[in-house]
Amino acid sequence: MAKQVTHSIEYGGITLPALVHSEASVRYAQQSFQVRDGDVFNLTYPKSGTTWMQEILTLIHSNGDPTLSRLVPSWERVPWIEQNTAAEYLENRPCPRLITSHLPPTVFPESFFSSQAKAIYTIRNPKDVCVSLYYYAKMASFLDYKEDFGEFIEMFCAGKILFGSWFDHVKAWLAYRDRANFLLLTYDELIKDLRGSVLRICQFLGKDLDASAVDSVVENASFETMKGNKMVNYSLVPEDIMNQNVSPFFRKGRTNRGISGDWRNHFTPEQNATFHDLYHQKMKDVGIKFPWDEPQSEIHQKL
Ligand code: A3P
Repeated sequence: MAKQVTHSIEYGGITLPALVHSEASVRYAQQSFQVRDGDVFNLTYPKSGTTWMQEILTLIHSNGDPTLSRLVPSWERVPWIEQNTAAEYLENRPCPRLITSHLPPTVFPESFFSSQAKAIYTIRNPKDVCVSLYYYAKMASFLDYKEDFGEFIEMFCAGKILFGSWFDHVKAWLAYRDRANFLLLTYDELIKDLRGSVLRICQFLGKDLDASAVDSVVENASFETMKGNKMVNYSLVPEDIMNQNVSPFFRKGRTNRGISGDWRNHFTPEQNATFHDLYHQKMKDVGIKFPWDEPQSEIHQKL
C-alpha cells in the first residue's frame, strides 16, 4: 500500500520527521539548551517505552497524584528536547524538569555531559521495537512504511529509518552506563515487574514515595490506564497524522498489558536467524546480557 510520507530533515547524520523538528530545533537542543543539574532525561530509541517512562516520571514527580497526567498531554509534561516546542515548554520551567529525547549522544545537548543531570535510558528487544515501529509506520503519516515485513526488517537493520540505526543509538548510549547519573532499564523488566522498576527509579532519583504513592504510580502507569487516558494515548493527534483505526498507538497484547515478545508472531525462523547474526556481530563487544539474548546456536537449530 502506497503511503504519502511527510518530509524529514537531516541533522548530524540522523533523519528526523519535519512535522515537529527543524534543523534549528535540533541545533538549539545540541548547542544552546542549558542543561541544569536538577534535570531528569527520559532517553530512548523510538518505540522502546518512551511514553511509558513519560508517564512514570510524571507520576513519581507528583508523588503518585494522577491529576497532571489526566489534564496535560504527555508531550507537554515531559517534552522532547529536539522538537520545535522545546524552548517554549522548558526554558522557564523550574527543576526538576522532566525531558524526553530520542537523540543519540553525538547530537545531544553538549551541556549535559558536564552536568549532574540524571538520565534514564530504556532499551527494548530490537525485534519488538521493529514490530512496534512497523505498525507505527503504518498509521503515522510522517514515517516511511513498507507493507512487506521482510523489507521493513531490512530497512530497520540498515538504519534507514528515522533517528538512525537502533544498534548505533543503543551502543552509543550504553557507553555512559557506568556513570552515577545514568540508569539503564529495559522495557521487558518494566513489563515483568513494574512496581520493582518504579522503586528502582525512585531510588535513582532520590524520591522517597510511601507505599500508597507507589501503588498509584503503578496503577496509573499500567497499560490499561494509559490506553484509556487521552492525555497519553495520542487520540488528541488528528487522524491524518496518526490514524489509530489503522493501528492503535497502544497495541493490544495477549494479556492486554503491553507486548513483550510479539516478534514471535511476525519474524519467520529465517528472518530471526538473519537478525540474530547481525545482532551478535554488532553487539558482541557491548558486554551486557539482556533479557532477550539467546545463544546463536539455538536460533540456528530452530531453522
Ligand atoms: P507496541 O507497539 O508493541 O504496543 P514509545 O512510547 O517509545 O513510542 O513506545 C510505544 C510502545 O510502548 C508501544 O508498544 C506501546 O504499546 C508500549 N507501551 C506504552 N505504554 C505502555 C505500558 N504502560 N505498558 C506496556 N507497554 C506500553
